Amino acid sequence: MPIIEIKKLTKIFGTDPKRAVPLLKDGWSKEKIFKETKLTVGVNQAEFSIETGQIFVIMGLSGSGKSTLVRLLNRLIEPTSGQVLFNGSDVLQMNAEQLRQFRRKNMGMVFQKFALFPHRTVVQNVEYGLEIQGMSKAKRREMAMQSLELVGLKGWEDSYPDQLSGGMQQRVGLARGLANDPDVLLMDEAFSALDPLIRKDMQDELIELQSKMKKTIVFITHDLDEALRIGDQIALMKDGSIVQIGSPEEILMQPANKYVERFVEDVDLSKILTASHVMRKPETITAERGPRVALQLMRDRGVSSLYVVDKDKGMKLIGVITAEDAAGAIKEGLPLDDIIQRELPSVSPDTLLNELFEIMGNTRLPVAVVDESGRLKGIIIKGAVLAALAGNTVPEAGVQLGHS
Ligand SMILES: Nc1ncnc2c1ncn2[C@@H]1O[C@H](COP(=O)(O)OP(=O)(O)OP(=O)(O)O)[C@@H](O)[C@H]1O
Ligand SMILES: [Mg+2]
Repeated sequence: MPIIEIKKLTKIFGTDPKRAVPLLKDGWSKEKIFKETKLTVGVNQAEFSIETGQIFVIMGLSGSGKSTLVRLLNRLIEPTSGQVLFNGSDVLQMNAEQLRQFRRKNMGMVFQKFALFPHRTVVQNVEYGLEIQGMSKAKRREMAMQSLELVGLKGWEDSYPDQLSGGMQQRVGLARGLANDPDVLLMDEAFSALDPLIRKDMQDELIELQSKMKKTIVFITHDLDEALRIGDQIALMKDGSIVQIGSPEEILMQPANKYVERFVEDVDLSKILTASHVMRKPETITAERGPRVALQLMRDRGVSSLYVVDKDKGMKLIGVITAEDAAGAIKEGLPLDDIIQRELPSVSPDTLLNELFEIMGNTRLPVAVVDESGRLKGIIIKGAVLAALAGNTVPEAGVQLGHS
């Protein structure tokens, strides 16, 4: 079961907003509704589900409805229509007390403006949420110190916020969100105020935190690079509607429409696509075969080299043989084993394309993609890399898209 699921979730701002719901159902645009009714569409019939442990990114230009959507999830904004389910139960049915508990335990929020108390020390800021829950002093101090350590602020606990840089203050805000230990953390432009280098550090930290603590994170940003870096799933919004939901690769490689295409056209694909995206299915042979069989196979498949694998060890890569060497071996009566080149260029599936360039420049052979146990997953030929960078790769059948 998804941890969060929303169905036809809609928010309309203005007086008597429900009157615009049927208009949205009829397909009226945000612009038309505003012109005819003076009502503003915040979120238009949004639907998605988020699995536990995902980083779900909501991306879109200013005014597209990101903040509204995320605040509908914990009812900081009341929906006009639609459903919000948390672990299958209806958030809209909760009474005030249940909702308070829900925001505390299940769905915490880190705001863009982190609003630290200037007269409280760092650790007192972090334990604030626990304090108002009535947790004992010793216990809340322990939890606050843990989350300060997680965000790399150990040693700063007794400082005051104004003694910290903006980036460090942002970490205090994050630590405060984490200290409450909610199941889901909502982060609205949490890193937008940071300068680029600190921002990148924070992204790395968030990814690490997420993998350590298996937190579900809903992360809002208007920055595509940030979305692509940290998102497991990305929802792209325009005028209150979600125009596409997908993995970073899907958004880049299969944009749902012209709008998404324009959104992603300036992305430097070489810093995002990996070996696993451009690899092809390799032609393989086992070491027991003879050179004649190898040569015949190469002719049949129209290739000039074959990858030798150990089928008993789950396709563990042994090396590569070329047609030229196979022909020579036939002449001289040598076994296949004698002509295997065991030193060959290989990379892991998550090697970025921009790192691949250098490796490919130094070799005439295709580059082998092997996993951590040395199994052959695919090969990379130059043309495929260039095609992918030109943005027109159609991944071959049999080659898996995504990190495997
Ligand atoms: N309280 C409100 N009253 C009226 N309209 C609102 C209100 N809050 C948001 N809106 C409108 O709803 C739409 C979505 O706003 P929202 O703040 O969700 O956008 P956003 O994607 O978060 O933008 P930004 O990137 O600038 O933060 C906008 O057209 C905005 O003007
Ligand atoms: Mg916003």
